[in-house]
Amino acid sequence: MGEFQSVARTGDIPEGEGRAFAVSGRMVAVFLRDGQYHAINDSCPHMGASLATGWVEDDQVTCPWHAWRFCITDGSWLDNPQSDLNTDCYEVRVVENEIQVLVPERQDPGTDAAAGDE
Ligand code: FES
Repeated sequence: MGEFQSVARTGDIPEGEGRAFAVSGRMVAVFLRDGQYHAINDSCPHMGASLATGWVEDDQVTCPWHAWRFCITDGSWLDNPQSDLNTDCYEVRVVENEIQVLVPERQDPGTDAAAGDE
């Protein structure tokens, strides 16, 4: 399920920029745009560049390595909307002056496997 975790204070992320934070064993990119915070997986699905260091314009971030573009509000891959490729998107809230991100706990890929089939 996961729970909200504080990653920064308001004011730590400049308007129109992103910052990367470690949350529950993964890196999360948090962006501030038009006074709203958005969070997606920081690792670009192409080759792993930090999306937090990309160029933010409107609701999109452009990866700094090969310029793939992702939506910072839902993680979709904007260069090919027909594709299922996207990056995870996380819920963000501000409590007092703390920016908090909700990242689900990682699932152990082996836990759902049926046992005793031999
Ligand atoms: S690593 Fe992001 S586009 Fe290549």
